[in-house]
Amino acid sequence: MTERSPQAYGQPPRDGGLLTRLLEVDGLAVEFDTRKGPLRAVRGVSFHVEACETLAIVGESGSGKSVTAQALLGLVPSRARITAGSIAIEGRDVTGLSDAEWRELRGERIAMIFQDPLSALNPSLTVGYQIAEMFRRHRGTGRAQARRYAAELMAQVGIPDAARRLDDHPHRFSGGMRQRVMIAMALALDPVLLVADEPTTALDVTVQAQILRLLRQRREADRLGMIIISHDLGVVARVADRVAVMYAGQIVETGTVPEVYGRPAHPYTLGLMRAVPALRGTGSTLTAIEGQPPDLAEPPTGCSFHPRCPLARERCREEAPEPRELSHGRAVTCHFAEEVLDDA
Ligand SMILES: Nc1ncnc2c1ncn2[C@@H]1O[C@H](COP(=O)(O)OP(=O)(O)OP(=O)(O)O)[C@@H](O)[C@H]1O
Ligand SMILES: [Mg+2]
Repeated sequence: MTERSPQAYGQPPRDGGLLTRLLEVDGLAVEFDTRKGPLRAVRGVSFHVEACETLAIVGESGSGKSVTAQALLGLVPSRARITAGSIAIEGRDVTGLSDAEWRELRGERIAMIFQDPLSALNPSLTVGYQIAEMFRRHRGTGRAQARRYAAELMAQVGIPDAARRLDDHPHRFSGGMRQRVMIAMALALDPVLLVADEPTTALDVTVQAQILRLLRQRREADRLGMIIISHDLGVVARVADRVAVMYAGQIVETGTVPEVYGRPAHPYTLGLMRAVPALRGTGSTLTAIEGQPPDLAEPPTGCSFHPRCPLARERCREEAPEPRELSHGRAVTCHFAEEVLDDA
């Protein structure tokens, strides 16, 4: 199998290995219009991703991970809108792009792997056709050549007998193979940034490990920046360099995986870590913190986590903490982070 190079598809080579900021999100806020009024799903989120780097976003169900991911690709649902903040992809502000401009950018610079490949693939078209279409539409590649590229890509993501499987429909593939097809489609146009929303959740442990290995390989080969969204702390530990912990639409803690896992600074993160007996292996999910996340239509006063926080006191109910830097690249949104650090 030959390694695909960007030049192979008529793209200029990437820079020579310097640190490159691929994504910069600053103060992003997303609201849904609901009957109860505005639901603030994402409330002032900031983070960045460099080339070759994998950032994980973790947090309980409903914390705003997917809505954040959708915003990065210009895919927020029609009932939602970005109300504040900015998103820059390779230095270009994309917050106000038109649908046509997004269609051009999506796939080319930033691509997404969806949790449920069956809903992202068209069931009535062959897999080969769907991949080849990407080259035809974006690159104007001829039919036969696009088909060759599709087969090459499928082989690269480890689909056996790729040339023959081009003509199969999605339902003919196993869950793991379908996820590989999704990865192939996401990588087809050589994006610089890949967003993977729960890419292994539906898969059994062995296949999960294969997919994670594949993503790591592609990151090395393509100098990809990646965002991996997961509620599985074991998965995150295996693939990510840095982690952002989300709670109720906000990032409450960021840092490198060893820092955050080894010495959490936010009571929520500490709770997550304690809820997981062993972070090695997979299947460890974020379910064991007492209480429920807040209703985002009516978030609590002060710190959003205070109703569930064992350290909460008067100040936490009254004053919302601002994110503050603990050390270089390490930030926390808690008035009493020092106590948590001591505890951990
Ligand atoms: N189409 C929608 N209409 C109204 N509210 C929505 C919609 N989609 C998401 N939300 C709300 O936005 C918030 C964030 O949802 P999001 O899907 O981003 O959570 P998540 O962190 O991805 O959760 P999960 O781990 O379950 O995937 C939730 O409170 C959710 O109820
Ligand atoms: Mg989600």
